[in-house]
Amino acid sequence: MKEFKKVISWKVYNFDELDKKDSNLVEEAMKATEGSYSPYSGFKVGAALLLDDGTIVTGSNQENAAYPSGLCAERTALFSAGHLFPGKAVTALAIAARNNDGYTAQPITPCGACRQVLAETEQRGGRPIRFILYGTQGTMIINDGTDAILPFCFGADSMK
Ligand code: THU
Repeated sequence: MKEFKKVISWKVYNFDELDKKDSNLVEEAMKATEGSYSPYSGFKVGAALLLDDGTIVTGSNQENAAYPSGLCAERTALFSAGHLFPGKAVTALAIAARNNDGYTAQPITPCGACRQVLAETEQRGGRPIRFILYGTQGTMIINDGTDAILPFCFGADSMK
């Protein structure tokens, strides 16, 4: 028998402790919530991706009366970046989300389906994606890439 262990680490910052690049990306995610179409959940999510050339691509959640047809903010941004800037690596993702009471106190993390897309995006880019997840009580930063949020991921290599 062999035992293995994975350790996940993250940091929590006050907003005013973030460096300018990170706070800027969070602000882009906040602005992106304005494009949310979320009449069913009332939950507005904004995502902002930083590409390796400094380009920022944003997205927001887009809902539909046939619920599963909607799409999360993260995948809206990821697929948009894939389409508009093919071949450019994604280096960071900021997320901010708000309900009727304002931005969430705790950061939200990407759903499972978005994590799967993030993992393949990271693999294509060849470098880890940093996560900057905003909450009014603290911004969570994960520096170790998608393996930290989707360990044991299924990917193209799994089929070899
Ligand atoms: N949502 C996102 O856009 N991103 C997440 O990380 C979690 C959930 C959206 C989907 C749906 O429009 C609403 O939030 C409620 O689940």
